[in-house]
Amino acid sequence: TIYPVILCGGSGTRLWPLSRKSYPKQFVPLVGSSSLLQNCADRMRGSKDAPYAKPLILTNESFRFIVTEQLTAIGVDPGPILIEPEGRNTAPAVLAAALYLSKVDPDALMLVAPSDHVVPDKSAFHAAVSQGVTAIERDRHLVTFGITPDRPETGYGYLKLSAAPDATGAAVALDHFVEKPDLDRAKAMISDGSYLWNSGIFLFAVRDIIAAFQDHAPNLLPPVQTAVEDAKADLGFLRLDALAWEKVEDISIDYAVMERAKNLSVVPYAAGWSDVGSWSAVQELSSPDENGVATTGEVTTIDCNNVLIRSESASQEVVAMGLENMIAVAMPDAVLVASMDKAQDVKQAVAALKAKG
Ligand code: GDD
Ligand code: MG
Repeated sequence: TIYPVILCGGSGTRLWPLSRKSYPKQFVPLVGSSSLLQNCADRMRGSKDAPYAKPLILTNESFRFIVTEQLTAIGVDPGPILIEPEGRNTAPAVLAAALYLSKVDPDALMLVAPSDHVVPDKSAFHAAVSQGVTAIERDRHLVTFGITPDRPETGYGYLKLSAAPDATGAAVALDHFVEKPDLDRAKAMISDGSYLWNSGIFLFAVRDIIAAFQDHAPNLLPPVQTAVEDAKADLGFLRLDALAWEKVEDISIDYAVMERAKNLSVVPYAAGWSDVGSWSAVQELSSPDENGVATTGEVTTIDCNNVLIRSESASQEVVAMGLENMIAVAMPDAVLVASMDKAQDVKQAVAALKAKG
């Protein structure tokens, strides 16, 4: 059985002012009318013929009720919701989920899914997951899903394929994994042509990923194990033990396991994926017209070119005239107006605001 494990602990700042620390991007309807988490949970139901188990969700204290509210609204009954006392990045979260699931079902497969990605084609996604299951059953590999890269992005992991993928979409063994390269290395990998981006979605047999942690990040095991064993149940939530969690290293699964493990495979995935890392990504996902104009809410544009203009409150009219390469996002309490070229730097604006107090 496939158990979806949904990572819902992040707090992105690059989509300010819509994404806030107290209400980050996974909870916001960025594209269409459902939130990214809702779309993710819907995808994680699996298909009619091959339904997945109830999702296991990992989040923190402050998001727990938003999570239950949003899932109930779309008729998804979340399985247990694991509460991390503090964010320790993805390696401890994945290990906690694996240890928890190993008690529920020692033969479990876990499908690790970030809650804040856009994956429009559900059936292509389910087909890719099935290819991953085949690789696990055949080779006992840890499975990644690889995206065709189109720029030397330094914020992603890179997957070096050991052979060219064939037309069936079957998994290919990985030669090695490179997390967040510097720009020169990223450029070299792009021109090499045999690398894919790591999507951040993974499929593991629970016992194989626990073994991989034993081999490559053994220091994480004792404290995470204690945190899971001493977890306290509370109204459908399961709080990981805070004292044990304090001893857990802050590290991502990419550095802790994927860069070090040898038994890796990648399922190439070409049906559309975005981690919605910036407002320019939102523009591309918002079906811009032939002039590159994408709008949300009560917006009128006149003579605009390559813009994203959003009004985020029902009663607020936003009019844009003669703009080119611009982003405007109007909230009741904050407005972002920025050049499209600065989409990656919105983070800095948030830092500047924070410094101002
Ligand atoms: N529950 C929980 N707890 N979730 C977390 C935590 C945590 O402590 N930290 C991060 N997450 C969630 C984030 O919300 C996000 O959905 C996902 O885990 C991945 O974390 P990011 O912080 O966004 O990772 P990244 O973008 O730097 O890099 C990862 O994703 C890239 C693709 O988007 C890596 O896997 C890269 O290799 C990959 O290319
Ligand atoms: Mg990310």
